[in-house]
Amino acid sequence: MTAVHESKVQLGGVRGGPDVATLRQDRWWIQPVVTVSILTAFIIYSTWAAFQNKNYYVGAQMHRDLISPFYSPCLANSCGAAKFGAFSFGNWALSPALLILIFPLGFRLTCYYYRRSYYRAFWWAPPACDVGDAHNSYSGETRFPLIMQNMHRYFFYAGLVFNALLTYDAIRAFNQPGIGFGVTVGTLVLIVNATLLWGYSLSCHACRHLCGGQVKSFKAHPIRYRFWKIVTPLNAKHMNFAWASLLFVAFTDVYVRLVASGAWTDFRLF
Ligand code: FES
Repeated sequence: MTAVHESKVQLGGVRGGPDVATLRQDRWWIQPVVTVSILTAFIIYSTWAAFQNKNYYVGAQMHRDLISPFYSPCLANSCGAAKFGAFSFGNWALSPALLILIFPLGFRLTCYYYRRSYYRAFWWAPPACDVGDAHNSYSGETRFPLIMQNMHRYFFYAGLVFNALLTYDAIRAFNQPGIGFGVTVGTLVLIVNATLLWGYSLSCHACRHLCGGQVKSFKAHPIRYRFWKIVTPLNAKHMNFAWASLLFVAFTDVYVRLVASGAWTDFRLF
């Protein structure tokens, strides 16, 4: 049986934890290794994709209207047919993905679940329950840069805007220029992507707090209570939504990229 140690955590103090690295005999290291592997792969791929500045849109030439979530909304003149709305950053010479990436990236980076994961996996602070901490002192999230984690609720609002935009993209994917209304595999990919991102946002801790936080009596706030009842079970699945939406948003970019480059065919279902 694993021995349980009492770990004192104190701001500005010396970190607690077991006197030895750990007495755990199980494979506690698997979770941090898997986390590091997936997050590192995602960071490398998304950085590469964001700088590509091509193959992010499948347009009328292929009878499709599919845009990668990494590039939506596309706000530079260089976006061409993928351009969103009237506003433009003009002749922005770099990849248009770089104009918007801070919002979804900031939302993920400051997420309470991901914080727990990457503090454990990358910082080893601590890497797992009842395993020695790799650091001697603890300053919490009280100083720069970690104090920026407090911006999570604002990134949450930005995330909702992006979800609405990606839902709009999914609806547009039903349009097949030159053919008409229909469904392709790409349509389904964009729908699943938007759905998972809504699941990720609505299961967010900030969302649950927004619905039911700082309420002394739900009796006086029946509408907030209703929302709180809806998001609470989603909140219990936040970790699942976090991983599923992360992997699928990358897959959606891969899908659009390969169709746009001609490597894959976007099959029409009807
Ligand atoms: S806590 Fe994870 S997105 Fe808000």
